[in-house]
Amino acid sequence: MQHDKILILDFGSQVTQLIARRVRETHVYCEVHPCDVSSDWVRQFAADGKLKGVILSGSHASVYEVDDRAPDAVFELGVPVLGICYGMQTMAAQLGGKVEGSHSREFGYAEVRAHGHTALLKGIEDFSTPEGHGMLKVWMSHGDKVTELPPGFKLMCSTGSCPIAGMADETRRFYAVQFHPEVTHTVQGAALLNRFVREICGAQADWIMRDHIEEAVQKIREQVGDEEVILGLSGGVDSSVAAALIHRAIGDQLTCVFVDHGLLRLNEGDMVMDMFAGKLHAKVVRVDASDLFLGELAGVSEPEQKRKIIGRLFVDVFKAEAEKLKASGQGHKGATFLAQGTIYPDVIESGGAKSKKAVTIKSHHNVGGLPEQLGLKLLEPLRDLFKDEVRELGVALGLPREMVYRHPFPGPGLGVRILGEVKKEYADLLRRADAIFIEELRKFTDEATGKTWYDLTSQAFTVFLPVKSVGVMGDGRTYDYVVALRAVQTSDFMTADWAELPYALLKKVSSRIINEVRGINRVTYDVSSKPPATIEWE
Ligand code: XMP
Repeated sequence: MQHDKILILDFGSQVTQLIARRVRETHVYCEVHPCDVSSDWVRQFAADGKLKGVILSGSHASVYEVDDRAPDAVFELGVPVLGICYGMQTMAAQLGGKVEGSHSREFGYAEVRAHGHTALLKGIEDFSTPEGHGMLKVWMSHGDKVTELPPGFKLMCSTGSCPIAGMADETRRFYAVQFHPEVTHTVQGAALLNRFVREICGAQADWIMRDHIEEAVQKIREQVGDEEVILGLSGGVDSSVAAALIHRAIGDQLTCVFVDHGLLRLNEGDMVMDMFAGKLHAKVVRVDASDLFLGELAGVSEPEQKRKIIGRLFVDVFKAEAEKLKASGQGHKGATFLAQGTIYPDVIESGGAKSKKAVTIKSHHNVGGLPEQLGLKLLEPLRDLFKDEVRELGVALGLPREMVYRHPFPGPGLGVRILGEVKKEYADLLRRADAIFIEELRKFTDEATGKTWYDLTSQAFTVFLPVKSVGVMGDGRTYDYVVALRAVQTSDFMTADWAELPYALLKKVSSRIINEVRGINRVTYDVSSKPPATIEWE
């Protein structure tokens, strides 16, 4: 790859990915790797001369609790280094300064005063004090702090409770801040990271999706040669963009298999076919497997068990289709590659830091292990990209904005939005109610921002509750099902707030669902945040 690059070493902070996203927003390419890579690995990574700087992330741990240190090579390469939070502390500890535990944790908003006119902070401020000191509004989260600067460093910023909130050795171009520039609560955070990456590191801003198409197409052609590729199209953003990109690269050497499990949204199957087979002229095989899925799901109500069944059946159906295609002799030798819409956050998480001990709340990944079972090689053309970049790429490839900026939809589909046992009758009611909700979200515009409520929410959908309640319609009594509307706002889907949708919108949706969908006589709105609730109900 011929791009300048920034290396981000992950010490296990929840927000490391945000650092990478902020860097990519400056159109500079960067990669996240675990902090325990070796010095040899770092030198190898820098061997192409493209490494322009290193960022050391924060951590949830204290320098006392863990012995995670940056590989020494980081400080020996001659490139600028930026330490953030724990990254600052380990930089101080490794270069001869002192870090001490603190009795009080500083957590949340803080005002930081800049000192020393460093290249990193010069001219970047939120306001200045009457004495003329530049001040920054930042977000802090730390217990330990640096109490003695390492030799060669000077003070870069301070707060009342954290006298050394930033330090710099401008000769070696090492900078460190105790606060988190990657979070949006730090008002000048993006400006600061931009300054580091573009000016101090001097990295080229050449990571641009429009231009990336040519590069990605070339790479796919080299990797695939004259072989055949098979791809499971789900209608989701990632598989759609992967399909469009691969189709651009190799045309008819790609066959898409679209498995309809009967748990898709209203008209979704037709829309996918229309787009890919109709407009892009890609080879798409549509498999209607709804009877199979609904049959196997009958009588099963436990969410994880439902997920497992759907995941297993998806693999079975996909495998059978792949075999069929091979037997039919489509293409000259049948597919040898399986394409997947894996994106960079999946790559970071699966290769992640050894210290991650997350519990499984929900098993999200349904298609793992498929390539080995099929004896196929993997083609993952989006594995370097964040979601925002995948979307930009999708638009640049000519996919409709509406499709590319769609809310995420879980692999098990409506299977986890029908509580308990899944039945066709429930799925049909839910599909219609959900379509009404989404249609109204797209219609209602917020006056203050000029955006639709669909764009103002990160994910919105309807949940089917298999309980009946009494209602009255005309002169008659009804005894019908209940649905819940769910709409959330989030930047990472790890935490989420329920959206404060306007009452007028809720009113319209409720009235339309009850009047138009016979079988539903009550609509509720879910006002639970994540945590402690999750976004999906199962
Ligand atoms: P939760 O419900 O865990 O959801 O707060 C977080 C995000 O993950 C999506 N989700 C899934 N995606 N397979 C998927 O591909 C699944 O089984 C699954 N369960 C939840 C959910 O829609 C939300 O965006």
